[in-house]
Formats: sequence, C-alpha cells, structure tokens
Amino acid sequence: MSAQAGDTGERSAPAPKAAERPRNVGEMLERARAFLARKGVEEARLDADLLVAHALDVDRLHLLLRLEEPVAEEELVRARGLLQRRAATEPVAYITGVREFYGRSFGVRSGVLIPRPETELIVDLARDYLADREDAPRILDIGTGSGCLAITLALEVPTATVHAVDVSREALEVARANATSLGAQVTWTENDGLQAAQDGAPWDLVVCNPPYVDPAGREALAPEVRDHEPAGALFAPEGDEHYWVRSLTEGARGWLQRGGLMLVELGYGQGPAALDLGRQADPEARVEQDLAGIPRVLVLGA
Ligand SMILES: C[S@@+](CC[C@H](N)C(=O)[O-])C[C@H]1O[C@@H](n2cnc3c(N)ncnc32)[C@H](O)[C@@H]1O
Repeated sequence: MSAQAGDTGERSAPAPKAAERPRNVGEMLERARAFLARKGVEEARLDADLLVAHALDVDRLHLLLRLEEPVAEEELVRARGLLQRRAATEPVAYITGVREFYGRSFGVRSGVLIPRPETELIVDLARDYLADREDAPRILDIGTGSGCLAITLALEVPTATVHAVDVSREALEVARANATSLGAQVTWTENDGLQAAQDGAPWDLVVCNPPYVDPAGREALAPEVRDHEPAGALFAPEGDEHYWVRSLTEGARGWLQRGGLMLVELGYGQGPAALDLGRQADPEARVEQDLAGIPRVLVLGA
C-alpha cells in the first residue's frame, strides 16, 4: 500500500488513555522519578524534577508550587521525550541546555564539556590570590570550554583583563554566547593553549582545567560522560594523563609575571605526581583539596 499524502511513515505515540494520564503535576512528577529510578539513573529524583520543570517551562521551585495543577497533553508529551533521553544516558545539562556554575547559568550543548562543581575551587583560589590588588591583572584560561572559568573570573574580578583559548571552535561559540548573556568581557582565541600562553606572556594568573582522563580508563567512565561529552575535552593527549601538568609546569616560569600564579585542575589520584612535577618548577608548589577532600588543584607560583 502506498503512503498517503502527509504520511511520513512515522507514527506518533498513541494518546494515553484517560486512566493512564496523571491527574496532576504531582502525579506526573512521581511517575517520572519512578521511571528514571527503574532505568538505573543515579540521581533519579533530582533529574526527574529538573526535566519535568523544563517540560513545563518553570524552574524547580515553581514546579513544586504547581503540584495540584492539571497537566496539558503537550506538556506530558514533552516531558516523556526528555525523560526518554535521560533514560538513554544523555546528561540532564545537554537536555535542558543549561548548567549552574558559581551561581550563574551557563548554556551548554553536546560538543562542550559540562562545567563541574569541583572546578569552582579554581575560582575561589583565584579570588583569594587577586583580592586587594589595585592593578589590572592579566588572566589566561587555557581550554575554556563553555567559558565557565574565564567568564566567572571576569565577573568576579572586574578589574581583570581576561583572555581565553580553546582548540574547539564549537566550545568557543558556546563560550561567546555565554559571555554575551552574562555580560562578561573576555578575549577569545582559537588556538593551542600552550602556544597562546607563550604568545600572550607575561600573565598574572593562568588557570586551566585540562583534559586529564587517562584514555586507558575510558570504559570505566559513566556512559553519561563517555558516550556524550567530547573526547577532546576529556582525554589526556599521547595517552599520558600527566601531559598537561607536565607541559604547564614546564612553561610556567616563562609565561608568568614575577609573583604570578598558575592553577591547574587535577583528576582523581593525580595529586602526588602533579605535586612532584609542580615542585620542579616551584619548590613551594602545593595541591589544594576540593569540598570532597580530593586533591584537586595544583597551585604554582613564579
Ligand atoms: C576539561 S575541558 C574544560 C572546559 C572548561 N574550562 C571547564 O572547566 O568546564 C578541557 C578543554 O580544553 C580544550 N582543549 C583540549 N586541547 C587543547 C589545546 N591543545 N589547547 C587549548 N584547548 C584545548 C577542550 O576543547 C576543552 O574545551
């Protein structure tokens, strides 16, 4: 039988029977939480709340104020689609297109690393270091991704001149859009980060959250990370998980202003080796722990 005019061959899901439909937002939310839990999603409750809120175009707080309200058919269909994506391991931030970092909303999409809470430690350390400075410090963010570090530093330290570099054009597009929506002034460069550090030296502060995952550990990563986030943002080059710490510590003295600082994020278990490398460049180098007590940021002076 030939396809009818207007028949694309795709059938939309049949409308749910009246009895199957949730009576209100609260019931829809309960079902969404149970669905994600059954699918093995670790933070099923939080993720369901965020996705249902997104489907209803409200924030999580307002969602909880609408629990008694009825659900429109199109809201139900939208929520189902989002929950199916999450059940298929797509991270919530790629589905909703946003992630909070240091109290601000950053746009994200596949092709750009989702900002992580542990990276906020770099901002805290940078703020401490730059507090009370009366000049205009020059900051470089290497591997800027969504621009979360560069933009946050530009907004938190308004006297600073902030530059950011990434090899990924897609990341820079997202970072530029974030800077516009958050009202931050940053100079963006598409280049290799080590080259940009050299070209723009001397810097008062260099920050970097490099791709530090050992490629040999790829299969051990959660599918949310392994199958969705960009390999170029995750995996250390040359199969060497210390590639970036080695390269950055070797370059530090040549790139930093006298009295300048470098802050480099480390992967789990990389603290001791990073400290050894750091101390070859600065005998007073140290590693700071994140809120979970994990050695997370190499701090190196010049
Ligand atoms: C771990 S992500 C960090 C992104 C962001 N700074 C954050 O903390 O969320 C690493 C970033 O480094 C970029 N990158 C990888 N190799 C690079 C290189 N040689 N030069 C500059 N950036 C690079 C990747 O494209 C990615 O955006």
